[in-house]
Amino acid sequence: MPEQPILEPTAPIIEMRHISKAFGAVRALSDVDLRLHPGEIMGLVGDNSAGKSTLMKILTGAYTRDSGDVLVSGAQTHFKSPHESRAAGIEMIYQDFALCGNMDVGQNIFLGRWPRKGLFVDRKAMYREADVVLKRLKVDVNSVYQRVESLSGGRQQSVAIARAISFDPRVVILDEPTANLSVMATERLLETMLELKKHNVAQIIISHRLQDIFAVGDRVMVLKRGENVGERYIKNTTEQEVLEIIVSGRREKVA
Ligand SMILES: Nc1ncnc2c1ncn2[C@@H]1O[C@H](COP(=O)(O)OP(=O)(O)O)[C@@H](O)[C@H]1O
Ligand SMILES: [Mg+2]
Repeated sequence: MPEQPILEPTAPIIEMRHISKAFGAVRALSDVDLRLHPGEIMGLVGDNSAGKSTLMKILTGAYTRDSGDVLVSGAQTHFKSPHESRAAGIEMIYQDFALCGNMDVGQNIFLGRWPRKGLFVDRKAMYREADVVLKRLKVDVNSVYQRVESLSGGRQQSVAIARAISFDPRVVILDEPTANLSVMATERLLETMLELKKHNVAQIIISHRLQDIFAVGDRVMVLKRGENVGERYIKNTTEQEVLEIIVSGRREKVA
């Protein structure tokens, strides 16, 4: 039975069209399309080396594309670094969190932009602001003075998310965020995602754990060997069907 065309509820905040990327002889992405709408949570799945991280790094400007278009709110973009996409409201949280373990929570949240008072870092303002961000997220990091390396993986991730949220993004990308988390930390992360959704933040979650994507996602997109091989609304599919697409996916037209 042919799949119903996917209806567009609102204008997409992110549109990637015909994205291709090679690393030497390796074709990491071939003609990949992606759309993401405000408030939407999209799961991005596929085997290892399918091109998921590369696609997201192209979106943030960490990698340059060989060809294709990236549009944010309908406008063409050519981000040259994650610094530039951050200014456009896009935040990516990496699997290794990219935090400084020997610094404390407050210092990490405001890394690279510590508030100043004359020549000196305004520590009071920094920790006060860090505390506000953590409370807003309702995460269980109870002290802004704790060294990050002394925290569990789940709490370190909360700090990475707090840092991302402090930029007030419209788009958040999580690359395999639950891979090393406990069940409790995973639940908390999924709750945080739903909280962000309420604020109309658009999110992409890369994960091997389909149950997480089915718990919070609206849509799921499958990459295989650098190609789109399927896209489904969560409410119209099953984990079994998505698994079958991941395993046997042949390219199907994604309108
Ligand atoms: N910086 C890089 N240099 C060379 N090859 C890369 C680089 N990044 C990714 N690749 C290759 O591109 C392909 C897709 O990788 P990746 O996007 O990391 O896949 P996934 O995130 O789905 O596991 C893989 O073959 C990988 O080895
Ligand atoms: Mg990856």
